Amino acid sequence: MLDYGLKDKVVIITGATGGIGGAIATEFYELGAQIVITGRNHEKLTALRDKLTRNPDIAPAPLCIPLDLTAAEATKSLVQETIKQFGRLDVVVNNASRVDGRLLLRSDPNYLQNMLHANFIVPYNLCKLALPHMLKNEYGRIINITSITGVTGDAGMTAYAGTKGGVAAFTKSIAAEYGRRGITANCIAPGVINTDAAKKIPAARREQLRIQTPMQRFGTPEEVAFLAVFLASKRASFINGQQIHVNGGLLR
Ligand SMILES: NC(=O)c1ccc[n+]([C@@H]2O[C@H](COP(=O)([O-])OP(=O)(O)OC[C@H]3O[C@@H](n4cnc5c(N)ncnc54)[C@H](OP(=O)(O)O)[C@@H]3O)[C@@H](O)[C@H]2O)c1
Repeated sequence: MLDYGLKDKVVIITGATGGIGGAIATEFYELGAQIVITGRNHEKLTALRDKLTRNPDIAPAPLCIPLDLTAAEATKSLVQETIKQFGRLDVVVNNASRVDGRLLLRSDPNYLQNMLHANFIVPYNLCKLALPHMLKNEYGRIINITSITGVTGDAGMTAYAGTKGGVAAFTKSIAAEYGRRGITANCIAPGVINTDAAKKIPAARREQLRIQTPMQRFGTPEEVAFLAVFLASKRASFINGQQIHVNGGLLR
């Protein structure tokens, strides 16, 4: 079996209660990582932990930390709790997002502030808080989940696209600042992936996107998760500062 070098690595995955986050958490767990899973929905979080620990020999039990990442000090307490429990932090997957589309002329300052906070400030802060712990070991992997929309833009998605494009840009800067210290920072930009978030796309637009996708289908959360664990693995040690698309060829 291929060795991904993830056994016992401590990995924070945000948005683990969602479709893509749940698949990412599962992949890391199955590769033996010590995962720290977060989300707002306590029940979904414990259900994921219970599902994974039906195979208790694979990896240590996941640590569940239910929280709203936009609450005061939430990112700080997430990292503090992780360090308190395991004494190290190797990988951060910033996956949680607010997917709330509005036309520019219908957006107000409060909406924009909420989008910026959830989708830009939270992942930015989490990277900043995680880095000192990664630098201690001269090893770290930052994986930020962006979106095809952050590259192409889309009607009704100005704020969302802006935050995702911003995350891609700051991730490249982290790669430039800390690559020499053994840290890599990359983004995964999904196309349309079958999750609850994608189900909110109006049916006609969904069908249009499906037809525009050369593979004529949407992706699965697992197809995103496979790349996440690869980027975190020792096999991806020279991949840094990239935004890699998982979209069946939709972006041309
Ligand atoms: N699905 C797609 O087609 C697609 C396409 C492009 C990019 N993406 C990106 O992929 C990532 C995952 O998307 P998904 O489709 O899996 O979405 P999803 O199923 O709706 O999951 C979103 C996750 O984010 C969490 N979350 C949102 N706001 C939060 C907050 N304030 N504090 C803590 N957690 C919060 C949710 O937690 P709770 O449910 O517990 O509240 C949930 O776990 C996102 O970054 C999204 O932008 C998805």
